[in-house]
Amino acid sequence: MYTQAMDLPGQPEGKAPTIAHSLEADPKLARFDAAIDADGRIEPQDWMPDNYRKTLVRQISQHAHSEIVGMLPEGNWISRAPSLKRKAILIAKVQDEGGHGLYLYSAAETLGTSRDEMIAALHSGKAKYSSIFNYPTLSWADVGVIGWLVDGAAIMNQIPLCRCSYGPYARAMVRVCKEESFHQRQGYESLLTLMKGTPEQRDMVQDAVNRWWWKCLAMFGPPDADSPNSAQGMRWGIKRISNDDLRQKFVDATVPQAQLLGVTLPDPDLKWNETRGHYDYGAIDWKEFWQTVNGNGPCNRERLGTRVHAWEQGAWVREAAQAHAQKQRQRAMKEAA
Ligand SMILES: [Fe+2]
Ligand SMILES: [Fe+2]
Repeated sequence: MYTQAMDLPGQPEGKAPTIAHSLEADPKLARFDAAIDADGRIEPQDWMPDNYRKTLVRQISQHAHSEIVGMLPEGNWISRAPSLKRKAILIAKVQDEGGHGLYLYSAAETLGTSRDEMIAALHSGKAKYSSIFNYPTLSWADVGVIGWLVDGAAIMNQIPLCRCSYGPYARAMVRVCKEESFHQRQGYESLLTLMKGTPEQRDMVQDAVNRWWWKCLAMFGPPDADSPNSAQGMRWGIKRISNDDLRQKFVDATVPQAQLLGVTLPDPDLKWNETRGHYDYGAIDWKEFWQTVNGNGPCNRERLGTRVHAWEQGAWVREAAQAHAQKQRQRAMKEAA
């Protein structure tokens, strides 16, 4: 997912779009605006406004951090997966998330920021990542529910990003979305299996759904009325669909899936609205959301601590890989000479 943070208040806002920039006044900006208006792609070598670059660095790096931190809650279950098949699927899924993080760091690097800078910002707590990963995975059913609902919400959010105006981000998203779709299906299939099992297994699924449902709705970010940066993101072709519209699409798509699965979504206000042609749903607890975004969720410290520890423990691997690459380069140069 993982793009909620774009709407966090107190972050640099883009300049409001001006009506037209004459070619004489600012030819670079005029060319940029024309490319955006024509729904074209902006590439790394193209000129772009500073705020467009900053917004993208922030969004893409936060997205990358979310993929990497997102490996942790499910990674906790690899050693406890109930069968070899489930373990193999889960390892592949968690590895995919690592891959998504790496594509995205590469995409952000094309904007002139280094991976070391981005990782330092994550480790110091300066950079945000999706709050959904600051909640614990208490049972095996959580792994299925994360696939079904968290990856499901991620797909909803990320499909429009395949048409993002920044070329490297849009292209990375095409592959990421294909893999997210596998993640969502494996989660749903795992839950279907549990629901055909014992009453205890069915209760475990319902309990996991109860704990994750509202958090998944909050993943789409604050209501449109409280998202001051959204309009600029839309103008720049970075954001294509508003938070509330994406959330509604997610609810509408998920309700029939919950019915098929045989679980109840924990919202007494959830009901079909004939006039709107959509499901109505209850109020989201934004206080809890902001508390978690601001570092005080149940697992914020644990997640960051695990990441920093892994980074420190892996230092010798990075050094060895770099030394090896340098040796290869020197050998190649010697042979070419
Ligand atoms: Fe992912
Ligand atoms: Fe995923």
